Amino acid sequence: MKTNRIIPGDALAELKKLPAACAQSIIADPPYFNVLEDEAWDTQWKTAADYLAWCEAWVAESMRVLCDDGLCFIFGQLGKREHTFLHLMSRLAQQHQFHDLIIWDRAVGYDERRDSFTPQYEMVLVMRKGEKVKFNKDAVRIPYDAKTIETYLKDKRYKDMDARRAHLEAGKFATNILRVPSLKGISKEKCGHPSQKPIDLIEKLIACSTDADDLVIDPFLGSGTTAAAAQRLGRQWIGIEKDSNYIQIAQKRLAADSDLFSKS
Ligand SMILES: C[S@@+](CC[C@H](N)C(=O)[O-])C[C@H]1O[C@@H](n2cnc3c(N)ncnc32)[C@H](O)[C@@H]1O
Repeated sequence: MKTNRIIPGDALAELKKLPAACAQSIIADPPYFNVLEDEAWDTQWKTAADYLAWCEAWVAESMRVLCDDGLCFIFGQLGKREHTFLHLMSRLAQQHQFHDLIIWDRAVGYDERRDSFTPQYEMVLVMRKGEKVKFNKDAVRIPYDAKTIETYLKDKRYKDMDARRAHLEAGKFATNILRVPSLKGISKEKCGHPSQKPIDLIEKLIACSTDADDLVIDPFLGSGTTAAAAQRLGRQWIGIEKDSNYIQIAQKRLAADSDLFSKS
């Protein structure tokens, strides 16, 4: 199977053409359904029921192409009125095996709401296929700052201070609340997609769930964040995207990114 390529077309139709159990990880950031009200791709379903049925279909195909010990990450956001992702999570948890619910803490709020707290997170539902999953906890650690390390090193209970220092310098295990600032309009990373995810966040999901050379599939590639992250981490990837403008953006981005890496 040819990898490291963008497949233009519809996610469901194209997933059906891929072989079973080929992907170690699936990173799916689908349309949210009526959250980005100005984007035609987010408002293409007449009813929530239509959207849910469509999601169930592409998730079933995603689970088919997932390896037995693989993980499928599904992004979801709640809108002002729409809370369809809650229903989707409930249905998917009944149809497949729930693994985790990650909170992506975007560090700053993203919407002005007068009648509630300012929303600051998105959710990432994690589904697994089998009982055992490939998960590398060491791959995502959060560094301690120098002052914290020095404070912890004063703890008299530890006899082997070199071992203690090495342990602290490795950083602490990440929790399932991943704090990664969302991309601002002026961010250098921004490349013209209204829902572009930070590459640092996607790298964390790929790093914990795959080894070098494993295949990562993104059925809704957008600006190519998953492909760029996979390329940086030495994983194989396949991305599906139906909008030709976004495909062009992703291709340009991936070419620039691979240039950057071959020069460094
Ligand atoms: C939330 S965005 C993904 C953004 C991406 N994670 C990024 O960082 O750039 C969802 C994407 O799905 C695409 N899309 C919508 N319906 C699709 C379909 N049926 N098949 C494939 N792609 C689709 C949209 O064009 C949009 O780029």
